[in-house]
Formats: sequence, structure tokens, C-alpha cells
Amino acid sequence: MPRIAPSLLSADFARLGEEVRNVVAAGADWIHFDVMDNHYVPNLTIGPLVCEAIRPHTSAPIDVHLMVKPVDRIVPDFAKAGANIITFHPEASEHVDRTLQLIRDCGCQAGLVFNPATPLHHLDHVLDSIDIVLLMSVNPGFGGQKFIPGTLPKLRAAREKLDAYEAASGRRILLQIDGGVKVDNIAQIAAAGADTFVAGSAVFGAGRDADPHRYDSVIAALRAELAKVGA
Ligand code: DX5
Ligand code: ZN
Repeated sequence: MPRIAPSLLSADFARLGEEVRNVVAAGADWIHFDVMDNHYVPNLTIGPLVCEAIRPHTSAPIDVHLMVKPVDRIVPDFAKAGANIITFHPEASEHVDRTLQLIRDCGCQAGLVFNPATPLHHLDHVLDSIDIVLLMSVNPGFGGQKFIPGTLPKLRAAREKLDAYEAASGRRILLQIDGGVKVDNIAQIAAAGADTFVAGSAVFGAGRDADPHRYDSVIAALRAELAKVGA
């Protein structure tokens, strides 16, 4: 069953709790939480206090995507704030394996994020410590960007690696995609091997006309597209 993870980056920040409740009621599986520091990426967003504030509004997993450097200092704060999954960029940590262990020691699932130009070989020696791989299909920092088509062959390559690992170890690692995911391309992305889909502007941009904001139809449309390719 594919997972849909709406990114709060495109939600109404003046009423985040309500946005979280509405999007989960509409069928979202995870809440994707984009953390930017104006250092590793050229934008500044939300931190552990906001994670803690939305936590009581849902029992859905909170998927924290760290676009911060350094990484380790802030990991325990997000775990305490109720994060379930924490992913980070290998370029942002001096000691990638240590950071993965730290995330797991804090009781969260751990993942690595690959920028469009970051090669997949960063996975080679750490697969045993990883629960999720996230491929960026835009450069990190902003919502509403266009999907980079070169991500499709990269997804297929990642799928192959993760399938081979599963065949050898019996352990399944999730493959997530983030950036420019829309109703009109999600089927193609699923066919290339993704099983977990971040969508920010596609979801939160769609329900803005109604009050309260309604996300049922866009999430149903994303799922209908996924069903077309048997995902
Ligand atoms: C970008 C963030 C994404 C972003 C996706 O740095 O990691 O999660 O919010 O937004 P859309 O779906 O609008 O591309
Ligand atoms: Zn993200």
C-alpha cells in the first residue's frame, strides 16, 4: 500500500493543527515536516517546537525531513517532540553512520536524503542502518518546484539496490520521493519504484478554496493514479 505524505511546507501556517487534522481525515498516511535552516538550504521554516505543537493533532506518523547542517544537535529534540521518522542529507553530517545510529537510538526510523546530484553510492555501507531512502526530485529549499525528470532513472536504480538488499536480508527499506509530485505524474513515479510520496503544493494548494480546507478529492485523485499502475 503506497503512502502519501503531504508536506506542511505548503499548508496554512496560521492554522497548522487544523491543516494536519484535515489532511489526515482526507486520507494522508504521514505528515511530511520540512525543516530548513537558511544555511544548508536557502530558506528557513519550522523546528521542534512546531513539531511538538502539531503532535497532539494526529496519530499519523510525523516524517521529519532535516535540511539542516549540522544534523546531530537537533535530532534528540525532534525525537522528544514526537517525530516518528527522521531523514537527513549525507552532505550535512560529518559522520553519516553515527547520525543514523543516533536517530535510531532516539527511537525513530532513520533515512538518508539524496539531492538530485548526490550519487546513490552513499547507501553502500549503511543499508543495515537505514529504514527509508528519500530521493529529492527538486533541489531542496522550496515548495512548488518542477519535478526533475532525471529522477526517474535514479529511482529505478535505487529500487534495484533496495530490492537486492531485501532479497538478501529479508528487510524492506522504503523508497520515498519528494518534489514536484502531482496528480499527473505520480503514476509514472510509482512505476519507477517509489512507494512513499511527498506532495506539498499538489495537496495543500488544491483545497484552499473551501473553508474549512478540503483535501479529500486531491488525495483520492493521487490514489486513483497510483491504482492505475497497480501501486
Ligand atoms: C523541498 C521540500 C519538499 C517540498 C515539496 O525542499 O523538501 O518537501 O515541500 O513541495 P512540492 O510538493 O510543492 O514540490
Ligand atoms: Zn521534504
